[in-house]
Amino acid sequence: MTNGRLRDRLPHLAYGGDYNPDQWPEDVWPQDVRLMREAGANLVSLGIFSWSRLQPREDSFEFGWLDRLMDLLHEGGIAVDLATATASPPPWLSHRHPEMLPVTADGVRLWPGGRQHYCPSSPAYREAARRLVSALAERYASHPALVMWHVGNEYGCHVPACWCDESARDFRAWLRRRYQTLEELNRAWGTDFWSQRYSDWEEILPPRRAPTWANPSQQLDFHRFSSDALLECYELERAVLAENSPGIPITTNFMGFFKPLDYWKWAEREDVVSNDSYPDPADPDAHVRAAMAGDLMRSLGRGRPWLLMEQTASRVNWRPVNVAKAPGQMRLWSLQAVARGADGVMFFQWRQSRAGAEKFHSAMVPHGPVESSPTWQEVVRLGGDLRRLDAAWGSRVHAEVAILLDWESWWALELPSKPSARLGMIEQLESYYRLLFEANVTTDFARPSDDLSAFRLVLVPNLYLVSDDAARNLAAYVASGGTLVMSFFSGIVDEADQIWLGGYPAPFRELLGLHVEDFLPLGVDGAEVRFADGTVDRCVIWSEMVRPHGAEVLATFAGGTLDGQPAVTRHAFGEGRAYYLATRLAPAAMSPLLRRIWQEASVGPVAEVPEGVEAVRRGSLLFLLNHSQQAVEVQTPSGSDRVLLPPREVVIVQDDSLIS
Ligand code: GLA
Ligand code: GLA
Repeated sequence: MTNGRLRDRLPHLAYGGDYNPDQWPEDVWPQDVRLMREAGANLVSLGIFSWSRLQPREDSFEFGWLDRLMDLLHEGGIAVDLATATASPPPWLSHRHPEMLPVTADGVRLWPGGRQHYCPSSPAYREAARRLVSALAERYASHPALVMWHVGNEYGCHVPACWCDESARDFRAWLRRRYQTLEELNRAWGTDFWSQRYSDWEEILPPRRAPTWANPSQQLDFHRFSSDALLECYELERAVLAENSPGIPITTNFMGFFKPLDYWKWAEREDVVSNDSYPDPADPDAHVRAAMAGDLMRSLGRGRPWLLMEQTASRVNWRPVNVAKAPGQMRLWSLQAVARGADGVMFFQWRQSRAGAEKFHSAMVPHGPVESSPTWQEVVRLGGDLRRLDAAWGSRVHAEVAILLDWESWWALELPSKPSARLGMIEQLESYYRLLFEANVTTDFARPSDDLSAFRLVLVPNLYLVSDDAARNLAAYVASGGTLVMSFFSGIVDEADQIWLGGYPAPFRELLGLHVEDFLPLGVDGAEVRFADGTVDRCVIWSEMVRPHGAEVLATFAGGTLDGQPAVTRHAFGEGRAYYLATRLAPAAMSPLLRRIWQEASVGPVAEVPEGVEAVRRGSLLFLLNHSQQAVEVQTPSGSDRVLLPPREVVIVQDDSLIS
């Protein structure tokens, strides 16, 4: 998609937040614009939850207030990311069409009173959304303040799937398109198991609450369908906007590693990938997870700059305890996003609400006296920083390592009735990512079917489900000289969640030079592995009985049933090599192993910096971010400048000189 770039429409990196002026009397609006200018803001996401104001009754639209706001913002030099306002349907819609309310797997209907109370497959919801978006597009397409469209809001956040009768109908239509014949569906779903054979399409239902495990292939298809059903909602709005306002970029805000939506598929349909990021200040690893989400956003956009669409200025309101960001932490995490490819930093929200469920959620403008508030002062400081960062704008981050992530495999892996319920996709990703992050080795994410030739090293923390084509793609990558590291329980099932027969992991046997005789998941984490040099370390979660045929054994299990049998192997394949890990090594063992592997693959860190400092290169800029509690000394790449970096401070270096 190339509907347009945000960068062509703003003077600097984007800065601002969700703006909900309909919650405030009109005399507050000019104050808002004055404060926005003071903060250095240049963009607001306007009217995300304004449907009931924009269309108070089915047959009447009220745009006067929005007209006045658009003009006011434009006069004040603030650009608008205009929302389509479809994330919270107005009361009249569900009152007239109660069938548009979503239903859970237990048959419970979710009522209005919160937000996102719509069934993604509901014709009444979709038609009403289309009418609203058409009216908005027609009215504002050529307004000079408009620089981007913000479609919906956090699709799937509260209601990622619906099990109602309308969803059932839509699911059946989706299945007919996928399988064409009932015979093919019966084959893919393995319906001879437990007498589930269908003789009529009408018999098929979404996987509603069943006495015991619902058919896993059915559940997997329901995941695919549910992601697609919401994508159709997004697509119908996007089509209206693209037709009525060509050239205006379109986005919808993502939520990091959000399991229900296959963001690879979604991102292909966005001009700007944007993300909402709420790392928990109480979590000492929050910045690692935020970095990982930033790298995912960059990768989803295939390297294009993305946008940090939401973060909080200090506290959220939805954790049991909402710890405030420490002084400097908001700025530090914001600049981290820029370092990892964001072309802007935005907040939820501009002005802290007086009423409603989010009145204790911090905002750029707090309730109390504004100018003396430390949060406001940090907001103003960051606005100044971003104005001076034009050099980052539009530039790219280069990575030589890719971690593979496939949503379908994630869904299938975490369906129940596996050898172990302790195996989760995100923990697997983090067990690799964290070590790369700590060593300042920049990482992209990629799909198993992507062209991987640009990467020196490809990491596969888990790929339970793999298609024939993707498996061949990985083998071809290694055959032509790539290095690949794969962890246990990969290559187990096909796209229908049926076992690849012929010895696990059948699609990767040749590549890895081994087969797996059986799985021996670990109950308690007392198991150990021994490396060739005699070091012994802990391993967790999983073990397997590996039979090498061609692979070289680098470490063995120590003690227990598998004593002396392979735990880590390496196999030369074509011009490259493939490593296999039959367990999850504790970090003390995984760290030196991975380090050796990336060094062999000629991959290096961005910079050598003290512990706790994150180093990222973006275009001509080197970002050094101190996440530790101590002041540390860092130096420019040539060593010509030494700088003391206090806790939560950031240094940005260009061509060996400090620019910030
Ligand atoms: C019970 C059931 C079997 C099978 C086993 C699995 O015994 O009767 O059909 O599900 O559990 O342990
Ligand atoms: C999400 C939503 C916002 C707001 C914030 C609160 O990101 O998109 O509307 O509810 O959460 O953290």
